[in-house]
Amino acid sequence: MRITVVTAFPQFFRSFLDTSIVGRAVERGLLNVSVVDLREYGEGDYRQIDDYSFGGNGGMVIMAEPLSRALEDLDGPSFVVYPSPQGVTMTQEMVESLSTKDHLVIVCGHYEGVDERFVQSKVDMELSIGDYVLTGGELPAMVVIDSVSRLIPGVVGKGRAVVEDSFYRGMLDNPHFTRPAEWRGMEVPPVLLSGNDSEIDLWRRREAVVRTLDRRADLLCRASLRNYLEVGYYVMWFPPDELDPWTLRTISLSCSSYGVSRLLIPVQDGEVREGFRSLISDLGLDASVKLFPSAQKASQWVLKKEKKQPFSIAIGKGQGEENISWLEVKREILSNSRPPMFVFGENVASEGDVTMRPVAGDDRDRSALPVQNAVSVVLDRFFGWR
Ligand code: ADE
Repeated sequence: MRITVVTAFPQFFRSFLDTSIVGRAVERGLLNVSVVDLREYGEGDYRQIDDYSFGGNGGMVIMAEPLSRALEDLDGPSFVVYPSPQGVTMTQEMVESLSTKDHLVIVCGHYEGVDERFVQSKVDMELSIGDYVLTGGELPAMVVIDSVSRLIPGVVGKGRAVVEDSFYRGMLDNPHFTRPAEWRGMEVPPVLLSGNDSEIDLWRRREAVVRTLDRRADLLCRASLRNYLEVGYYVMWFPPDELDPWTLRTISLSCSSYGVSRLLIPVQDGEVREGFRSLISDLGLDASVKLFPSAQKASQWVLKKEKKQPFSIAIGKGQGEENISWLEVKREILSNSRPPMFVFGENVASEGDVTMRPVAGDDRDRSALPVQNAVSVVLDRFFGWR
């Protein structure tokens, strides 16, 4: 991957590009970084690159012309990034997308910033590294280079960064420990010394959940719960009396795609239930769908299987306050460690331990989503890849 930094302060980058993981990536040719001195494109004998801001408070702004000439001197197509506090806030997903570019150009602003006409005409992405103001774009440029370079295959282990980042996305990292096993009276959690890989893995996930809930619950919208639950998860669907095979097949397919342990279908009427049973069998869905005479019987079955009372989440309109958002539900699922059971169907609001706001539709239900679509959307929010 090629990165070009355009800056009025090239000296900032010297030791950065020689040191540690980035330094090794550069040395091994995995990353090719050039630093362009903006002053070389300055105007006049003094190589002027900035001027007073029009209508401003006397601050200096970097001129559009030197910046543009510096870019025009580069060969081939490139993706131009301009770090600024006004940019979109950088996330790991943005870093992933930047790491796929062949040639990334980072333009460092200074003083009051750069002429907006340059930004409008030459910049592909204006990005901020956080809600605080730095004196220039050099440190953010280093942040971009560091975060992007660790995703280049071969820079950190065997693609470990990429796999781990996507696995743990939306969750904070677990704590880490090294030798000695006891330091100043404080011991390393014994499980880490046990050599039991699956126990260690479980411990890491639990710690990640506890930390995320405690410190950054806002990240949860980006997390798939799939790797963090120690119990199965279920969908309960109250079907209409006339069961349409296509709807059943679609819901069942969604459930298996998202790793649902079982689709539970309560049907009170024995005769109707038998009809459904043969349909399920004709469709080859016996392994993923289970029929019950009532919702209560289905819950008891889950309780027996998981040794924990299911946590039922009705998707529909509750009475005012009872109606909670899906993020709250996500938080609750992680905190209570009961097997979640998402309940769909007509008038199921009173069936759940909680009622989750419906996926879409206005107050008069004019635009209610077909149930098979609602199932997919809900499952994706909780268990989809991120
Ligand atoms: N330049 C100055 N402050 C910045 C920030 N927070 N992010 C990116 N670039 C900046």
